[in-house]
Amino acid sequence: MSKPIIVSGMRSTGKLHLGHYLGVIQNWVELQHKYNSFFFVADWHALTTKYDKTEELRQDVLEVVMDWLASGLDPDTSTIYVQSHVPEIAELNIYLGMVTPQNWVERDPTLKDMAKILRTKEGQNSQISYGLMGYPVLMSADIMMMNADAVPVGADQVAHIEITRDIARRFNNIYNTEFFHEPKPLLNKCSLICGLDGNKMGKSFQNDIKISDTEEITAKKVMTAITDRSRLRKTDLGHPDECEVAFKYWQIFGNCEEIAQTRQDCESGTRGCADCKRMLGAKINERLAEIRERRRYYETHPDEVKDIISNGDKKARERASEIIKQVRELVRMY
Ligand code: TRP
Repeated sequence: MSKPIIVSGMRSTGKLHLGHYLGVIQNWVELQHKYNSFFFVADWHALTTKYDKTEELRQDVLEVVMDWLASGLDPDTSTIYVQSHVPEIAELNIYLGMVTPQNWVERDPTLKDMAKILRTKEGQNSQISYGLMGYPVLMSADIMMMNADAVPVGADQVAHIEITRDIARRFNNIYNTEFFHEPKPLLNKCSLICGLDGNKMGKSFQNDIKISDTEEITAKKVMTAITDRSRLRKTDLGHPDECEVAFKYWQIFGNCEEIAQTRQDCESGTRGCADCKRMLGAKINERLAEIRERRRYYETHPDEVKDIISNGDKKARERASEIIKQVRELVRMY
């Protein structure tokens, strides 16, 4: 029996950070051998909010793919492609848009959040485009284009996958078919990593550590991480559980012994926060060393990256053209 299919994507936002790596990519790397895997860069989705800032869009796509490859996505196992290179997705997006009730997209909580962020960035008068409203439909087209069984994503995307399941069911009902699977979200067990300031890690919040940051920059950034705010001097007894960022990072990057030792040194006032963050920076760098080395390889071999993408595009289009043919039959657009 053939393996079940997974599809997932990320917007082309440029260089990725540890939130992407720990929250999503690591999960993909683990799943890629168990499933027939499709991973794509959602450059059309990037356009929903950055339609007027497209100068860096092409480079951003490459940066994302380099981070994926560096993190361990294997192009011989997984199909790695770019959304806009598979025009069948745009056609499917049209058919799905026709069967999606307006209030389904209006209800989408993630979209509401995006609209809120857009308003804080661009003022109360910022307009939500028709394209942005269509975000969940386009995302459904991405997923249904491969007729996926499951979608490995972070918890923030689950509401979108629910809409996809609803759209798949509705399409099947309307056209009297069982053609489309109802894809399930596949969440990983990993806990969410917060940003250096304790808020959600995000590129625009300037609180992130990039996969591609140098060791020096990483070390410097880690020194800005919030610790136990009640601890003013090194000899004050610390409270690791109230340490807002640094100890949380230890719990992600340290082994059991290192975590226990850190707790002990903090509680007994023998390790100050600055020393603790110096050690933590070194720990994070150690964990990322191999990934960063691989990334440097791809940075110096951009043609290899482009070849990987065009191979992936081709494989993705093979599957997409089979699916779209059947969809046209079902909708009677032939
Ligand atoms: N919305 C996702 C994000 O912001 C990106 C995405 C677009 C996606 N299409 C998808 C994820 C399809 C999974 C499946 O990260």
